[in-house]
Amino acid sequence: MSQELQGKVAIVTGAGRGIGEQAALKLAAAGAHVVVSDRDGDEAGAVAAALATPGSAHVGDLTADGVCDALVQHAVDTFGRLDIVVNNAGYAWDGPIHKVTDEQFQAMLDIHTVVPFRILRAAAPHLREPAKKERAEGIEVFRKVVNVVSLAGVMGNAGQVAYAAAKGGAVGLTRALAKEWGGHRINVNAVAFGLIETRLTADLPEAARQGLATHIPLGRGATADEAARGIYYLCSPASDYVHGQTLNVSGGLSVGMTG
Ligand SMILES: NC(=O)c1ccc[n+]([C@@H]2O[C@H](COP(=O)([O-])OP(=O)(O)OC[C@H]3O[C@@H](n4cnc5c(N)ncnc54)[C@H](O)[C@@H]3O)[C@@H](O)[C@H]2O)c1
Repeated sequence: MSQELQGKVAIVTGAGRGIGEQAALKLAAAGAHVVVSDRDGDEAGAVAAALATPGSAHVGDLTADGVCDALVQHAVDTFGRLDIVVNNAGYAWDGPIHKVTDEQFQAMLDIHTVVPFRILRAAAPHLREPAKKERAEGIEVFRKVVNVVSLAGVMGNAGQVAYAAAKGGAVGLTRALAKEWGGHRINVNAVAFGLIETRLTADLPEAARQGLATHIPLGRGATADEAARGIYYLCSPASDYVHGQTLNVSGGLSVGMTG
């Protein structure tokens, strides 16, 4: 891989395993210093140690008070700047609406909508201030925000009202922030996954997996590596003029109202 991200500093949340791990490996292989954020310390440490460039682990439950701010501060204290933020940490707590508790609905909003908001609010000065200086000097430098969402949040999915509402919230945040930060050359995009083979989908009953696969034109779910390529694209110079978009990385799966 080329060193097109040399000198850049990235935060990837939920990078201890799955899609986030693969995204962190790719960003580092392209030269970026990556802060591997996860609540599971052993996994985060192992991924940070495996990166091609010197990286760092930051361990904490992002929904806990102060952890999002601490993560951003850790990145800036460790590497001196911030260029790329990938909001990927997440999990699904599913159920039909008549069985969804207040706690469950709030938990989905917290990890998928509130955490990205808090991280980006904390990151704002570190992304905006250098951008203002560059603009004054007539230099264009692109920085990147990628919010990981789901087709469920874009098109809906029965049994996932809480998860879908929370991921849909992150799509709205993406669009609004793209309008807010475009002038600073901070690309803000989302990537919507369909079926990716990770821990998150490991418990899917085989019949459900097969059923879903029949709606995927490519005929199967993706590996975490394939999914992370979509994230990498939105972090790379190849996407500098892609802004405020939600990129479906789903093998063509589209779960619309008739799907
Ligand atoms: N796998 C899929 O089919 C699929 C589909 C659509 C969207 N997504 C999204 O992709 C993202 C990555 O999921 P994955 O499939 O790689 O799952 P995964 O379970 O393999 O990895 C998710 C990681 O996020 C971390 N995490 C979760 N909550 C956290 C918290 N509160 N604080 C810190 N870390 C936390 C976990 O510890 C884990 O390492 C999630 O946002 C998920 O909703 C996945």
